[in-house]
Amino acid sequence: MQALVINGPNINLLGIREPELYGNKDYSDLVELCQQAGAEAGFSAVSCFQTNHEGEIVDAIQEARFSFDGIIINPAAYTHTSIAILDALQAVNLPAVEVHISDVDARESFRQISYTGKACFARVAGEGIQGYARALQLLAVHLKTSHE
Ligand code: DQA
Repeated sequence: MQALVINGPNINLLGIREPELYGNKDYSDLVELCQQAGAEAGFSAVSCFQTNHEGEIVDAIQEARFSFDGIIINPAAYTHTSIAILDALQAVNLPAVEVHISDVDARESFRQISYTGKACFARVAGEGIQGYARALQLLAVHLKTSHE
């Protein structure tokens, strides 16, 4: 059972970027957390990918269908704009969980719209980077129950 964690623009600046919203941990801490939480949830491997470019997210989702059982995705600002990422998620039809570090529903109204969430079976928001651990648990349970 293998998971791909995709992070969109500016997530590489974790720890530097608006720490009151996104916390003090950096991107390498996030990768470590995902690998640990993924192993605890029963994944044999968790790969983490970050890019600032929309098309590279589309490419990663398309390629995921050959090697991964599910996707954790924080599309960052593209959450609120990207029909291309929504379409890619729907095209590959892998189970996906959307994660947001901050509580997007309590922020500006434009952050309360999620295109990409329409292709995800669950969403975790406002739990800081720990939200990725919960998302991996949700994905593991989903994969185990759908294979029963
Ligand atoms: C974010 C929320 C988005 O609105 C924002 O553009 C981000 C990060 C989050 O993780 O809270 O870049 O996805």
